[in-house]
Amino acid sequence: MQAQLRYHRIPETLSLFAFSMLHFGCGAEGDRSQVIQRDEQPGAAVTREEFGELTDGTSVDVFTLTNMDGMVVRAITYGGIITSLRVPDRDGQIDDVVLGFDDLAGYLSEHPYFGAIIGRYGNRIAGGRFTLDGQEYTLATNNDPNHLHGGITGFDKVVWQAESFERDDSVGVVFTYSSAAGEEGYPGKLDVRVTYTLTENANELVFDYYAVTDAPTPVNLTQHSYFNLAGDGSGNVVGHELTINADHYTPVDSTLIPSGEIAPVVGTPFDFRTATAIGARIDQEDEQLRHGSGYDHNFVLNRSDGPLTHAVLVYEPQTGRTMDVYTAEPGIQFYAGNFLDGSITGKAGNVYGHRSGFCLETQHFPDSPNKPEFPSTILRPGEEYRTRTIYVFGVRP
Ligand code: BGC
Repeated sequence: MQAQLRYHRIPETLSLFAFSMLHFGCGAEGDRSQVIQRDEQPGAAVTREEFGELTDGTSVDVFTLTNMDGMVVRAITYGGIITSLRVPDRDGQIDDVVLGFDDLAGYLSEHPYFGAIIGRYGNRIAGGRFTLDGQEYTLATNNDPNHLHGGITGFDKVVWQAESFERDDSVGVVFTYSSAAGEEGYPGKLDVRVTYTLTENANELVFDYYAVTDAPTPVNLTQHSYFNLAGDGSGNVVGHELTINADHYTPVDSTLIPSGEIAPVVGTPFDFRTATAIGARIDQEDEQLRHGSGYDHNFVLNRSDGPLTHAVLVYEPQTGRTMDVYTAEPGIQFYAGNFLDGSITGKAGNVYGHRSGFCLETQHFPDSPNKPEFPSTILRPGEEYRTRTIYVFGVRP
């Protein structure tokens, strides 16, 4: 990792999910043999209760994951949505740092993927078309003129099966969903498992993604939480300082499709290699910023030797909260909430104004099915899609 990130706590005090279980060991598949029941012992805990019902009567449950540091994560079976994520600030005050709604009705209304699992394909596919093994496929152009985040009824809008687990160092929930062949125009049946794990005392939230298919298909799963480390509803996020471990990014056209170029960040507003406030350059006159109405771009992460790259550090100066992102993915979409415009009212009556939350979506690059030069997103029968991302929450004095 870059020298400027060295002040941050690294393995001595950080389990990094037990150093990533030597290449995503248990967790990726929710290995039941590792489950230890500790009903009577103190530690992390997980509970399940009803959250609401869809109009057809399908019940949606909420899981509440709690750890020893007072961190609390709530996630529902609809879209695997993280509805709240409560972490301490430098004075020990615990606040919710994600945008969202108080009830299911909010999540069933139109909103920009708050908190959800995204699939089959996170980000855009140009013109909603791609060719795979000589056959052309057509997808919904739900983000005119492109396909975005899996289509009209993506993984963010389906009810997942879910089971909680408790281990000796963590608790979590395993979400499963079987996406039928042809769903949203994608080929092959895709069986997906996404595991959320909260470690007992390192404030790590671990995302393990696993999928298998019976026919070749693109897969690019991610998580779409909107963060405001000063607390949900506390205004815009432009004062957050970001360090992104990326020497390059993928410039886009006016519809946010990459040109294919892997461009250096040096000398551009996309150079976050040293800590820089989100707002420091976001309104500069720059063609790329104009295309995204601010930051809405894929950064090409500098690879490290281990299974995970330390991709991003976020620091919120008022509360001292930090968030580190580690990932096995080659890219990350930094979206600065540019399209939030005050038209959505969320939790506790909070109005989500311009840039009131940001997303850090770990991913393969946008439009990879049409860009043979990008790392492949095609999963084939007999292969396993496995990837891990960890968000680590902390504080600085
Ligand atoms: C995209 C944005 C989009 C947002 C909500 C992000 O992943 O990059 O362009 O507005 O999702 O849909």
